[in-house]
Amino acid sequence: MALPAEYTQLSQEEVLRRLEVARKALGEDCYILVHHYQRDEVTRFADTTGDSLELSRQAAQQERARYIVFCGVDFMAETAAMLCSPRQTVLIPEPSACCPMAGMVTAEQAEVAWQRLSSLWHGDLLPITYQNSDARVKALCGRHGGAVCTSANAQKLFGWALAQRGHLLFFPDEHLGRNSALALGLRPEEIAVWDPQDPDGSEEQAWGARVVVWKGYCHVHTRFGLEDVRRVRQEHPGIRVVVHPECPAEVVQASDGAGSTSYLVRAAAEAPPGSALAIGTEIHLVSRLAARHRDKTIVPLARSLCGAMYRINEYNLLATLESILAGCPQHVVRVEAETAFWANQALQRMLQAG
Ligand code: 13P
Ligand code: SF4
Repeated sequence: MALPAEYTQLSQEEVLRRLEVARKALGEDCYILVHHYQRDEVTRFADTTGDSLELSRQAAQQERARYIVFCGVDFMAETAAMLCSPRQTVLIPEPSACCPMAGMVTAEQAEVAWQRLSSLWHGDLLPITYQNSDARVKALCGRHGGAVCTSANAQKLFGWALAQRGHLLFFPDEHLGRNSALALGLRPEEIAVWDPQDPDGSEEQAWGARVVVWKGYCHVHTRFGLEDVRRVRQEHPGIRVVVHPECPAEVVQASDGAGSTSYLVRAAAEAPPGSALAIGTEIHLVSRLAARHRDKTIVPLARSLCGAMYRINEYNLLATLESILAGCPQHVVRVEAETAFWANQALQRMLQAG
C-alpha cells in the first residue's frame, strides 16, 4: 500500500527521530511485537522480538496496551488479533505483507481434502495447520478438533494428534510436515502429499499413509539445497550447520540441527567463541546474529530474503504509530467473529500443548 508523500519524502534520520517521539508519546498504550526476520530499523523499536510462537503468547498475555502493532506478516497479525482481548486493537504497518505459503491453501481447498480423507478413514483423522495459514483454515481445524502449530512445536502437536487418531492432515507446508513426521519416527512411505490441483490422485496416494501433508512451500527456505550444505562444509571445515524446518528434508537431514527461528537464535548464542556456524534461514536474522556474535564465524547457508517481511519498514511503522496518536488508527486487523471463534479453539489447543 502506497504511503502518503508526507512520509516517503522524509529522510531516514527524520523518520527514526519521529519514531522515538511517537513511541514515547504512546507509552504503555502501545506494544510492538516484531518477528525475527524484520530489518534492524524495525527491530530496534520492538517491545518483544520473537518467533511466531513467542509472539502469539505475547499477544495473548498483553493486558495493558490498547494497541498492539505487529511487525511481521499477515497471518501472524491475524493470530494476534484473535488471541488478544476484545478491547485491544491490532495493527499491521503494511497490510500487503502477505506470506506466499499461507496463500497456498484456501479454506475451500482444505475442506475438499478434509471431506475426502475423513470418508476414506471413517473419521479417524485430525487436522493441524501451520500458523502460516489464514484464519479460515485455522477455523476448519478448530471445528474438527484439530490445532494450530508453529515451527517450534510442530513435532509436539503431531504427536498429540497421532495419539488420538490414526491419521493426520497437515496444511500447508509439505516440508515442515514431512520433517516433523520423520522426526517423530514415521517412515517416508507413511507420509503422502495432497496436491489441491489433483484431489483424485492425492486421495489414491493417501492409501497406506498416516500423515498427509499439503503441497505448499516457503520459497525462502526451499532455496537451500544440499549443494549449499556441501559448499559451507568445504569452505569452513568443522562448521556446524543449522536450518529452519521449512527446508526440504534432505537439507534438514544433512544439517546438524533444525528448529524455529528462536532455536536458531539460541544456536548462535550457545556456539562457543571461535567456532563457525552456518544458518539456513532468512537473511536479516542471519546478518543480525553475525553482527551480534563477532567472536564466532556466522555465515548464511545462502542468501535468501523474505519479500513479505521486508514490506514492513521504519516509514510505515511511523505512519502506523502516528495514526494512533492522531486518533484514527490505520490498517486495523479484523477477523470475522465466527471464524475467529473456531480458529481460537485451534490456537488455544496449541497454547495448551505448551
Ligand atoms: P517461526 O515460527 O520460526 O517464527 O517461523 C515463521 C516463518 O514464517 C518462517 O518462515
Ligand atoms: Fe512465509 Fe517463508 Fe516469509 Fe516465512 S519466510 S513469512 S514462510 S514466505
